[in-house]
Amino acid sequence: MLNDNEINYMSGKRTIIRSQAIFTAEKGQPELLDGYINVENGLITEVAAGEIPVAAKASHLLIDVGDHMVLPGFIDPHTHLVHGGMREQELALKLAGKSYMEIHEIGGILSTVRATRSLTEQELYDKAWETLDRMLTFGTTTVEAKSGYGLDLATELRCLQVADCLNARHPIDIVSTYMGAHALPPEFAGDVHGYVDFMLKQVMPVIRERGLAEFCDIFCEEGIFDLDVSRRFLQAAKGMGFLLKVHADEIVPLGGAELAAEMGAVSAEHLMAISDYGIERLAEAGTVAVLLPATTFFLMADKYAPARKMLDHGVRVALATDYNPGSSPTENIQVAMSHACFGMKMQPDEILTAVTIEAAHALRRETEIGSLAPGKRADILITDVRSPAELIYRFGVNHIVEVYKGGKLVAKQGRVCYE
Ligand code: NIG
Ligand code: FE
Repeated sequence: MLNDNEINYMSGKRTIIRSQAIFTAEKGQPELLDGYINVENGLITEVAAGEIPVAAKASHLLIDVGDHMVLPGFIDPHTHLVHGGMREQELALKLAGKSYMEIHEIGGILSTVRATRSLTEQELYDKAWETLDRMLTFGTTTVEAKSGYGLDLATELRCLQVADCLNARHPIDIVSTYMGAHALPPEFAGDVHGYVDFMLKQVMPVIRERGLAEFCDIFCEEGIFDLDVSRRFLQAAKGMGFLLKVHADEIVPLGGAELAAEMGAVSAEHLMAISDYGIERLAEAGTVAVLLPATTFFLMADKYAPARKMLDHGVRVALATDYNPGSSPTENIQVAMSHACFGMKMQPDEILTAVTIEAAHALRRETEIGSLAPGKRADILITDVRSPAELIYRFGVNHIVEVYKGGKLVAKQGRVCYE
């Protein structure tokens, strides 16, 4: 849609995007606004209905996309971005009927830990850069990145350092989470409390001191970290100043959602096996449910998270890819959006809200990103569809034509084009 001169002009100048179908993701707005978005120096300064004011026509670059829907950049609030290797060899085991936990016993997360430990900082950086490029072409402009494939001090720091460098250099913004509590490393086999002590005393103070992660997360699951261990870990992490996330009730209804609410966690994630009481507690506590339907699909599980019930009880629902080599090897958040509709029966407008403003809430970034409103960063997507329903209904293709990050064109027609 833009030529090179226009792209240069877009960098840092005043621009108006005109569309008959703007999905602002702001409460109280009509589902689609027929109007324009004013962008100055990377920020949105105005979103209004109607035609572009005549005075602005001379001073601004005008981009008229007709009836193509425009929406905020997607926010992917749950990924395991930095890791070594992939795990396609597990596919045959899955097809032979082995469960995720059975595979975990013979390899799983720990096989990725071995692959990650063997890579240098530069190798991890290059691999994750490619992953981010793919995410960007599908419309993702902010991601959360969990560590947790190093487990030892040096590799966890290396992975978080990589995320920090990527955040400084790649167009996608990264929010970092320390997830050393992803699995028990072989050097602590049989000594879960010893490993928790190691994280709390030797790893997390260094992460805090270097400012390498804002959040902490734990895989609270039968056979991984039980409720008591998770409570001890989360309580201590909170005391150290980390914001909390919890991998909760993914496979067994252990009470992880209730624990997340009790701890004041910002989000509880997965929740395929959440109880009715867990849903009530999330609603009361204002803890965001981050649902990962692409993972449910990939695990060939028979039950998606009860998204409808959560929405009906007033729980804030966000959606994410869960990008990782073991249970969701996809960078495409539109895959998660398809499964949110066809697997969890979410409505198209709920799905778009879940990958924009609700995802921003899951990262505590709701005042900066996640909707098209004055003062927010100009992270803007131009699509090839006319409505939320069309975007969801035509599944399996990339609907993102152009991606603007902070007002600059960074991806176009499925290819990155940043400088
Ligand atoms: O979120 N559930 C735990 N962790 C990841 C999977 C990690 C892996 O299998 O490598 C998840 O699905
Ligand atoms: Fe995960």
